[in-house]
Amino acid sequence: MHFAVLAGDGIGPEIVAQALKVFTAVAKKYRLNIGYTEALVGGAAYDKYGTPLPKETLELCERCDAILFGAVGGPKWENLSAELQPERGSLLPLRKFFALYANLRPIKLYPSLTASSPLKDSIVNSGVDFVFFRELTGGLYFSLPKQIADDRKSAVDTLRYSVKEIEAIAEFAFEAARARRRILTSIDKANVLMTGVIWRETVTALHEKKYSDVNLSHMYVDNASMQIIKYPAQFDVILIENTFGDILSDEAAALSGSLGLTPSASLNKKKFGLYEPIGGSAPDIAGQMIANPISQILSLALMLRYSFNLPEAAKNIETAVERALASGVRTKDIYTGSQGEILVNTAKMGSTIADNL
Ligand code: IPM
Ligand code: MG
Repeated sequence: MHFAVLAGDGIGPEIVAQALKVFTAVAKKYRLNIGYTEALVGGAAYDKYGTPLPKETLELCERCDAILFGAVGGPKWENLSAELQPERGSLLPLRKFFALYANLRPIKLYPSLTASSPLKDSIVNSGVDFVFFRELTGGLYFSLPKQIADDRKSAVDTLRYSVKEIEAIAEFAFEAARARRRILTSIDKANVLMTGVIWRETVTALHEKKYSDVNLSHMYVDNASMQIIKYPAQFDVILIENTFGDILSDEAAALSGSLGLTPSASLNKKKFGLYEPIGGSAPDIAGQMIANPISQILSLALMLRYSFNLPEAAKNIETAVERALASGVRTKDIYTGSQGEILVNTAKMGSTIADNL
């Protein structure tokens, strides 16, 4: 068993180093026979090889069971042509190449962090604990045609979904709902978009056929964006298409107190996965060792759970994160100055979590 480590750009290398620290400790504790190899991706790879996704990196990933991914992109590479840009040239091709159709984004507000949430106590006290199942390899991001006209006076993106694509992600989400509170909210824009009509029909049919024990409701995406901040406790599993999932998952992640807390897993049918924080490379704070490594460390936990089938080790990491937070350590993004809080840097947060395993 082996995983590839693609730390990338910006805060990527700083937070990945903390996840590797935690991995080393957890591997020792559980005597795991899992190795890893680091490789370049994104702007860092472009600077050395002239491409954000070098052949060497892709071949390494193909030999591995999973990818622990940091973040890519930054102002330095913003003016490159589209296919050479870190996000478009590495992350999106990796998702497509490995057919990572299911993107899981758990949103959770830890009890010790309610003060860091932008929402009032009266709203968050009823709990924030839900998970997005975002379709990741179809829809507006990937459908063709996708181009800018030669005269640059117009452009087109295409939004296409097949029943098969919708069924694949819906199936996964229904199964997950069964292992949770059995509440599934499917989000679409069926009042305007034809893909939304197909989305709703497909989810409804699958529900009737196989999952009538799950409590299914449908919600328009505009309403959902409001419900997430008005009454987040109503959500358990959210089933959502690619673009809407991109947008709503950032909004929801903020409820937990910081984007720096939210991990993600992108899986294919064989449970090969790419595991990354949802926050991005954060060039504005890179190099200062102030970034929150928790999103990366929780991404490691998801990797152990889904690609390596080690639920106990995964749970141990998640509990260690909770314990560290309960002990008061806070990186800058979640520091409120309240009594009992201790402001720490990226490395100290990483070692505190490793010590709490
Ligand atoms: C995310 C990111 C990516 C996306 C970008 C970097 C292409 O925002 O994972 O949410 O939009 O999917
Ligand atoms: Mg996003």
